Amino acid sequence: MGQTVRAAVFPVAGRGTRFLPATKASPKEMLPIVDKPLIQYAVEEAIEAGATKLVFVTGSSKRAIEDHFDTDTALEQALTASGKTDLLQSIRDIVPAGVTCIYIRQGEPLGLGHAVLCARPAIGEEPFFVHLADDLIAGETGCLSQMATEYDRHGGCVVAVETVPRESTSNYGIVAVDENSQNRITQIVEKPAPDEAPSDSAVVGRYLLTHRIFDKLERIGEGAGGEIQLTDGIADLLDEEAIYAYSFDGTRYDCGSKLGYLQATVAYGLEHPDTGPEFREHLKDMLSD
Ligand code: UTP
Repeated sequence: MGQTVRAAVFPVAGRGTRFLPATKASPKEMLPIVDKPLIQYAVEEAIEAGATKLVFVTGSSKRAIEDHFDTDTALEQALTASGKTDLLQSIRDIVPAGVTCIYIRQGEPLGLGHAVLCARPAIGEEPFFVHLADDLIAGETGCLSQMATEYDRHGGCVVAVETVPRESTSNYGIVAVDENSQNRITQIVEKPAPDEAPSDSAVVGRYLLTHRIFDKLERIGEGAGGEIQLTDGIADLLDEEAIYAYSFDGTRYDCGSKLGYLQATVAYGLEHPDTGPEFREHLKDMLSD
């Protein structure tokens, strides 16, 4: 049985170059899907899974994220005065009582593994989630909740995976698993060429890790793309700790890419109570022309 997971790390210090110029001065994680920024979907998913300590690893041009999770007294007063109670509630609910936000700077974007290592002082020896906000996952039960259930079952680390087309293995961490031991990972490689990939099972932006990853991340050097890769830290941990690949229920949108972002906007716009019915009609009209 795993210990309850109370901490979630959100690495948000990347440069977001695939989304330039939109991400030149404002963070990729603040891009909205209908009416909420990506980072808020991320935080909601982590809170649903039981997280009460939210650790944001931020970098330059990321102040908007901190502001988003702060209380804005002037805005609350203005909404109260104008009787906009629904909107007032929507901003008050962003960080529920009992949830703490911690911000740590990654001085330079040296890679995802380095970003996770920056969170060490706030995590200590607890198990923790890592959530990459640009991978938005829609589904009945949040992906992190599903992973917490898995962790509770076997007590090992959990990495979310999904099958990708062979030709795109070089965009992901790719795993090989032992199907006879609950999909325990036997190998993990960052961005392998299609003919060198051990499978077509790709790691997506959700992890449940123990503090033992930190020692590994401290020791690894630069990997693919000259960055300190979380994948390489996980690879070093495989011999010491059981790490399982978990195929989640849900639909993933890669909102760090333009196409994935547009797909998510359409999917969420169709489901949103304020926009759904009219948006559906509008799309039908547009596509029938
Ligand atoms: P990405 O690979 O998506 O990189 O990082 P990126 O810099 O955000 O975007 P592109 O590829 O240049 O368009 C995956 C996640 O890891 C975080 C990013 O913020 C993102 O959530 N990250 C990456 C860091 O926090 N620090 C880093 O040094 C690198």
